[in-house]
Amino acid sequence: MKELIKELTEAYGPSGNEDAVRETIKRHIAGHVSEMRVDALGNLIALKKGQPQSGIEPRKIMLAAHMDEIGVIVSQIDEKGFLRFAPVGGVNPLTLLGSRVIFADGMIGVIGRERPEKPDEFPKIEKMFIDVGAPDKEHLTRKVGDMAAFLRPLADLGQRLTAKAFDDRIGCAILVQTAQELETTPHDVYFVFTVQEEVGLRGALTSAFGVEPDVAIAVDITTTGDTPEAYPMAVSLGAGPAIKVKDRGMLAHPGVKNWLAETAERLGLPYQFEVLEAGTTDAMAIQTSRAGVAAGVLSIPTRYAHTPSEMVDYNDVQNAVKLLVGLLSGPVKI
Ligand code: CO
Ligand code: ZN
Repeated sequence: MKELIKELTEAYGPSGNEDAVRETIKRHIAGHVSEMRVDALGNLIALKKGQPQSGIEPRKIMLAAHMDEIGVIVSQIDEKGFLRFAPVGGVNPLTLLGSRVIFADGMIGVIGRERPEKPDEFPKIEKMFIDVGAPDKEHLTRKVGDMAAFLRPLADLGQRLTAKAFDDRIGCAILVQTAQELETTPHDVYFVFTVQEEVGLRGALTSAFGVEPDVAIAVDITTTGDTPEAYPMAVSLGAGPAIKVKDRGMLAHPGVKNWLAETAERLGLPYQFEVLEAGTTDAMAIQTSRAGVAAGVLSIPTRYAHTPSEMVDYNDVQNAVKLLVGLLSGPVKI
């Protein structure tokens, strides 16, 4: 599964520019789903049709993972050809200095900063610029509105992996792997790869209306409390996928939460409960769509979220796939 994860994390896909990620996913799930469609916003909706099984009531289940990643957008170009930019999603300025970014056409830029007034001044995005190496403005092909993403290859550290955009390509990889490993299911399972999560859960909202699920589970990352002097949080890398109880935007449906936990216990898989004080996921938008949807989240513990070097534990990833395959093979108990 590491090859798939590498291909997905290294793909270019800041919010609204998910095409390359979507094409990669399509290639890997073709033949493993009954049908695929792309909606008006760009969400990829793949259905695996259920096979009736005696004694199991078929339900419509939506699994969601977002294809987009955080990035930057050119807001202004100066006389010398330096690009001023704004964040796309939650970008911490501390992660930018010295970083390289890549545009859709492969052009690479380096992020620099104006001379600070005080040496210890916190860097501000409006005082930074992208330098694409153009000798002057005349030689520059970039336009206002062009987007760039972090440029960073995946590194395999053995048990752990580090890459940009594990948020949420690791969720995409888990859904792809689940679609491949799930041979039959009594339910109609919609694998939904959403757009524009990082700018406000927009793809999840429209796709939830399009799919009209009975139950939904988002697969996304969560932060951890296991690094030096971290903000207190009972989630650690390698202790199993995390089952969300609460984040800033939602309370997980208790039935969905318990269904995930009971399935993990039945399969003998490690898991942890997650209370995240900052951030939310696609599940919030799905939960509050139409007249409401029973929704929960399976989270992959991730260090250094929203930096170019996020880190996950490979066991957590594999256990998340096993948990989803087990979940989708049996009755929905919520
Ligand atoms: Co995010
Ligand atoms: Zn995410």
